[in-house]
Amino acid sequence: MRYGLIQTWRRGAFEISTDPKRLPLPRVHALLAATYWAEAIPLAVVRRALKHSLNFGLYDTSHSGDAVLTGFARIISDYATFAYVCDVVIAPEHRGQRLGSWLMECILAHPQLQQLRRWYLATLDAQPLYAQFGFIPVPEPERHMEIRRPGLYRDAEFISRWLAARGEAQPDAHD
Ligand SMILES: CC(C)(COP(=O)(O)OP(=O)(O)OC[C@H]1O[C@@H](n2cnc3c(N)ncnc32)[C@H](O)[C@@H]1OP(=O)(O)O)[C@@H](O)C(=O)NCCC(=O)NCCS
Repeated sequence: MRYGLIQTWRRGAFEISTDPKRLPLPRVHALLAATYWAEAIPLAVVRRALKHSLNFGLYDTSHSGDAVLTGFARIISDYATFAYVCDVVIAPEHRGQRLGSWLMECILAHPQLQQLRRWYLATLDAQPLYAQFGFIPVPEPERHMEIRRPGLYRDAEFISRWLAARGEAQPDAHD
């Protein structure tokens, strides 16, 4: 991994780490599959998305044994001009404790994400979370365009086409 990307922050029993080796893929998948934007996302898609992102895992270390992943966010960036914040999620039982705010604070403090020209994100209703850090609604929406495919993961043929486009075989049953 690129020098300087792995960082750790600690607050009480919670830890935020960008170390990809610590991330439990099935738990990230479970958190994301329960969100409104990634409902039914296949495991293979999450695996590939994580592989090509800077991932922020939020861990609860108060239990004996392994730390429990209680939050997650990932950044897609060129590390020079632009960063896209996506898949921000805190486990339901930990919401409302400012952990989402702390996660955003750490993301914006990451040494490899400084002095970027633009940060971008999309949200249905969590604007107050991001507004604290200076995010504003797009002032000139007519200058922004997108291709959007809602409901993609519910398409019965989607995963076959997705895998075929990448030259990959059908996943195992657990995928
Ligand atoms: C959105 C989410 C990440 C926020 O995490 P959190 O730890 O509960 O947030 P915080 O406690 O740090 O909240 C910070 C502020 O944002 C506000 N806020 C957080 N989530 C909000 C939401 N969904 N709608 C409106 N306001 C929200 C809080 O009320 C709080 O405001 P305050 O400072 O006036 O009290 C979490 O609720 C979550 O995982 N939700 C489901 C997934 C989701 O919607 N993710 C965001 C996708 S863009």
